[in-house]
Amino acid sequence: MTEAAEQQLTETVVESFAGTADPRLRELVTALTRHLHAFAREVRLTEAEWSAGIAFLTATGHLTDDRRQEFVLLSDVLGLSMQTVMINHAAHGEATEATVLGPFFVEDAPVVESGGDLAAGAPGEPCWVEGVLRAADGSPVAGARIDVWEADDDGRYDTQYADGRTAARGAVISAADGGFRFWALTPTPYPIPSDGPVGQLLAATGRSPMRAPHLHFRVVEPGYDPLVTHLFVADEDLTYDSVFGIRASLVHDFVRHGGPTPDGRAVDGSWTRVDVELVLAPAG
Ligand code: BEZ
Ligand code: FE
Repeated sequence: MTEAAEQQLTETVVESFAGTADPRLRELVTALTRHLHAFAREVRLTEAEWSAGIAFLTATGHLTDDRRQEFVLLSDVLGLSMQTVMINHAAHGEATEATVLGPFFVEDAPVVESGGDLAAGAPGEPCWVEGVLRAADGSPVAGARIDVWEADDDGRYDTQYADGRTAARGAVISAADGGFRFWALTPTPYPIPSDGPVGQLLAATGRSPMRAPHLHFRVVEPGYDPLVTHLFVADEDLTYDSVFGIRASLVHDFVRHGGPTPDGRAVDGSWTRVDVELVLAPAG
């Protein structure tokens, strides 16, 4: 009897949305209702747990503003961001696979000349990145803006610096043959922001806030599917990533060297080199 009444409530709520004019919105609110009710019934949600959940979401909202998006971070650690990326960027031949954007992308970062140094004084081991941008049919993509950003050796993005300077971030423009090259930093592990409700959730569930070391790329070029991706470092621990962004195809060798550098730049100590091919899928 209880079960039938619970099921009936779900149907009544679903029916309350029957007049939704937009069919896609109707589909979304109907499925959301069914899944939320099924969750509550499956776990036999207590009123104290319902209250704790509301308090958690309220705290998440209070921490969210123009600069800090705790809701996106929540979506990230629940794997919802990555699931949405995978749904919307299905594999297209050999096109580079997509992963999460994260909160540290900045529009209109400065363009650095070919072979320039994106690190701009950020602490870390120099890394020479050399690559080619091409279409899935093999043709080079010339003149495209390639945005790159990463955390420094202290685990911080420049947007987390107090002085607002740009470092370990910038854009390069692909050459006529699709080639690009620049200095950056060898990526190292760093924690996602964990001083808020999402950090409390990770702590309460025994999960680490650490991200697997990576270098971010974004290419938005007319005629192609926008590409948001990372390069992950093969030598590092790739058994865990707090936002589930690792894809095997994105793991690259960052080969460590000492001595002469590809462009003759004098580097004190070791540096690494990674070679990458970014392949854009056709739009749509
Ligand atoms: C990042 O890689 O920058 C990132 C992604 C998701 C959440 C936090 C940080
Ligand atoms: Fe990152």
